[in-house]
Amino acid sequence: MVAVNQPITVNDQNLIEKALLLKVKRLTSARGQVVLPCAPALLDEYMSQFYALLTALGQNFTPDELKGLRQLVERKLQEGYQASPHSRLVFKYEPPDPTQGLTSGLKLTVTTEVTSLENKYKHWLTTREGPLFGAHPDAKLMAVVSNFSDPVHTPILDVGAGVGRNTLALARKGHPVDAVELTPDFAQIIAKEAKEASLPIRVIQSNILNPALVLPANYYRLAVIAEVISHFRNLEDVQTLLTKVCDAVAPGGLILFSTFITDENFELNDKVREMGQIQWSYLITRPEINSILQSLPVQMISDESVYEYERTHLPPEAWPPTTWFEHWSQGRDVVPIQNPPLSLRWLLCQVKK
Ligand SMILES: C[S@@+](CC[C@H](N)C(=O)[O-])C[C@H]1O[C@@H](n2cnc3c(N)ncnc32)[C@H](O)[C@@H]1O
Repeated sequence: MVAVNQPITVNDQNLIEKALLLKVKRLTSARGQVVLPCAPALLDEYMSQFYALLTALGQNFTPDELKGLRQLVERKLQEGYQASPHSRLVFKYEPPDPTQGLTSGLKLTVTTEVTSLENKYKHWLTTREGPLFGAHPDAKLMAVVSNFSDPVHTPILDVGAGVGRNTLALARKGHPVDAVELTPDFAQIIAKEAKEASLPIRVIQSNILNPALVLPANYYRLAVIAEVISHFRNLEDVQTLLTKVCDAVAPGGLILFSTFITDENFELNDKVREMGQIQWSYLITRPEINSILQSLPVQMISDESVYEYERTHLPPEAWPPTTWFEHWSQGRDVVPIQNPPLSLRWLLCQVKK
């Protein structure tokens, strides 16, 4: 029987629950951000992640809205990656108005944070303890210079000298050393130590690739480029670097450099290439490095694993050089598995002009 003048009430539990949850959704607000490396090749993975996140927050999008979001993310990833491999994509979601809940949708913004290599390294100086790249000079470098009988007349070029672990050790042996270093704070550290200890070091704060930086021709007996090419971004720059260094080294002189090289049977794809740059491990294939070396007046003397060489030859107390060296030099910062198909190699070449 229905009571007179009483409104008809709904007694359907499902309907009531649905209405209640809608109210809860209106009272729920969400805001946050996802920060990701700018790797354009990971666009599909990132879009799936954003889609899953937005769906979990009860958001529905039209195909056109999703297409627009994808285009924006794609553009930002490319812009960020091009500007620097250290760039980050920032995906933000928040209520369109602070008083509104999830039923009013979410405001999405996609931006990039770009950091230069110099600023990254500058930050290391205030956030890391101990020698940044190791307390000891590279064992391979010390083995090469042990063959020089007259250090005072054997000038050496150290490209990307960092805070000087190699430069200072070479100068202490008597070698005149020219240290080219990109990061101003690092260059200052070397210059200060050189001055205090009256060492024969000239510090040149510059990008080695800067055409305005002119090195003396046919002058050095050895050029060392340790852990620097791993910061490079394309083969043209590697070619420019090695050509410039080759011109500066005297006939018969040596070039010792380290670079990440992929295994012969490994097919390098865009995801791995981009991760290499993001993880300070710029990757070069065998055919690529061979083609560069063939274009130069050099003869390869040795090609060996940096990890194996340094682990075997550094004094036990100097191993590992840093907390990150073992993983990084074996390629595990790019592909975190036991034996990635890439690793850091020492290449020693003789200049034949
Ligand atoms: C990983 S650290 C190695 C430092 C040093 N070679 C060592 O082994 O201790 C790389 C260094 O190369 C420098 N660098 C990177 N790109 C450079 C460039 N294009 N020109 C000069 N220096 C560069 C960085 O600023 C950094 O100090």
